[in-house]
Amino acid sequence: MIRARNLNRGRRASAHKTLTVSLGKFSYPIHIGENLLPQAGSRLARLGFDTAPIVITNPTVFKLHGWKLCKSLQAVYGPISVIHIGDGERYKDQRSLNKIYDGLFHARADRKSWLVAFGGGVVGDIAGFAAATYMRGIRYVGVPTTLLAQVDSSVGGKVGINVPQGKNLIGSFHQPSAVLADTGVLKSLPARELAAGLFEVIKCGAIRSTAMIGYLEKHLSQILSCQSEALQHIVLESLRIKAGIVARDEKEKHLRMVLNFGHTVGHAIEAATHFKRFKHGEAVAWGMLAALGYSMELGLTPREEAVRLASLIDRVEKMPSLKGIELSELWDALIRDKKFRAGDIQLVLVPKLGVTRIRDCIRRQHFKAYLKHFLRRGKRIF
Ligand code: NAD
Ligand code: GLY
Repeated sequence: MIRARNLNRGRRASAHKTLTVSLGKFSYPIHIGENLLPQAGSRLARLGFDTAPIVITNPTVFKLHGWKLCKSLQAVYGPISVIHIGDGERYKDQRSLNKIYDGLFHARADRKSWLVAFGGGVVGDIAGFAAATYMRGIRYVGVPTTLLAQVDSSVGGKVGINVPQGKNLIGSFHQPSAVLADTGVLKSLPARELAAGLFEVIKCGAIRSTAMIGYLEKHLSQILSCQSEALQHIVLESLRIKAGIVARDEKEKHLRMVLNFGHTVGHAIEAATHFKRFKHGEAVAWGMLAALGYSMELGLTPREEAVRLASLIDRVEKMPSLKGIELSELWDALIRDKKFRAGDIQLVLVPKLGVTRIRDCIRRQHFKAYLKHFLRRGKRIF
């Protein structure tokens, strides 16, 4: 059950909301609103965090917004330790993880200590994994600072690192103890990062909410120009969808797979281009287009539904093209993906916007032939 409470009635754009991810004794609140960082210390103290946390972040985020967070934490807890990892996907690795462990030992962290993951999905995933493993598991709080992290990666407890054998191949499920999503920090995001996060918002709409799709169609320019009310709305509604799904299927036994709409082909596109050409969200957008086109070919999705979503994706950003990606590279990446069950290709399809179907037993040769066509024609398949 998801509850939303208005904690600041009367000031619409800056009203803070709270959702709860209901997971029994592991339930946790998500606070959403503009300008939450200066309240982080007092809010966390009210939630029962009574010792000083250790903040994990990167220099980019810390330089932009770290002072606001630290000032507020210091006012409540006194001096705070901060551990920096490098900025970028390549730092979601074993070396950075060791750096975090070293920092935790140096700060004399014990089993009662808690971390604050302050940054985008990279910081959130690795800090969450450090929390999952340090002394067999300590608490952590997510303070996500990218749109992607606010609407997706900070909630749900998927934590991990990349290894030379592949992305996110070492990891765990470890739920945060609270999440504070300050939508004000999104205003400093580069336009391309904002767009990449927006594709995950579109995914949420595509799998569960035509109201969200309608909202995005109507308010896209306000969102792209970081208007407060529009940002708060999409973060809140995406999280409502994600929290509801995670509460029903925490460990991705079945239902949670719908959150992977666009990810099967998306991950393969990222891997085939060595994680350099596309932002994660952009690859997911291409993956959603691939899944929609395939579903159209199977006669499951009416063309007008697919075209509606493709047009929305098109309005967000001119994405890097698929040019030069070899079918063999894409296919190799696809069959290496951990989402493949015992060699079967599994795809999340959207027969109608807001509705999903998980399709097992996709015929390999048929899908491979479709991908060849998709790589050649891209958006022109619609
Ligand atoms: P990211 O963490 O690399 O952040 C993108 C860039 O934005 C970085 O350079 C970062 O320093 C910068 N940045 C962050 N906040 C900023 C701000 N407020 N203003 C200006 N710049 C800011 O990338 P991301 O897109 O947030 O996350 C991608 C990662 O998330 C990938 O590793 C992906 O695997 C992971 N992910 C995890 C889940 C999950 O469920 N755990 C879901 C989706 C993605
Ligand atoms: N990002 C997909 C999930 O959390 O399951």
